[in-house]
Amino acid sequence: MVKVIVVYESKYGNTKLVAEKIIEGMRQVEGIETVLNELKEVDLNKILDYDVILVGSPNHFGGPTGSVKKFIDKLGKLDLEGRLGAVFDTYMGKDFNKAVKKMEERMSEKVPGIELILPGLSIKVQGMRGPIVEGELSKCREFGYKIATQIKT
Ligand SMILES: Cc1cc2nc3c(=O)[nH]c(=O)nc-3n(C[C@H](O)[C@H](O)[C@H](O)COP(=O)(O)O)c2cc1C
Repeated sequence: MVKVIVVYESKYGNTKLVAEKIIEGMRQVEGIETVLNELKEVDLNKILDYDVILVGSPNHFGGPTGSVKKFIDKLGKLDLEGRLGAVFDTYMGKDFNKAVKKMEERMSEKVPGIELILPGLSIKVQGMRGPIVEGELSKCREFGYKIATQIKT
């Protein structure tokens, strides 16, 4: 079994929904065990139990939230050599990929032991509180499926 943890922060529930759909996609592949965890409930020591770590954040002021940044920094203090990872965000307006890029940079800098297995996913919401723009949810399932097939090989 390959063990995957998806950690997310979500003020209005949209990033949570993205995380759930990613997991739905991953579960289409056999042999993957998935756990969904809200950031504030994460037990950092448990992270070591997982082979793959996904981190999701809403875009707040052009980047990930402060808590997500702190979480990535904390991951850097664990020995995660050889683990795999990927990131995702939700955004409004024109900030496609902005938080994702910043999370990827931070992961590479602070958590070099985690190899990012595919480019991050950036999902558009219609307004501050959502909902997610039509057609975006299928991208989440595809992202999850792609990750699952990749980590099985
Ligand atoms: C304090 C705050 C700042 C935000 N700043 C941005 C921003 O700079 N760019 C952007 O595209 N969206 C911004 N947004 C919109 C969020 O990206 C949107 O609320 C979020 O994707 C919804 O996800 P959630 O339901 O998981 O909280 C901001 C939202 C909040 C609450």
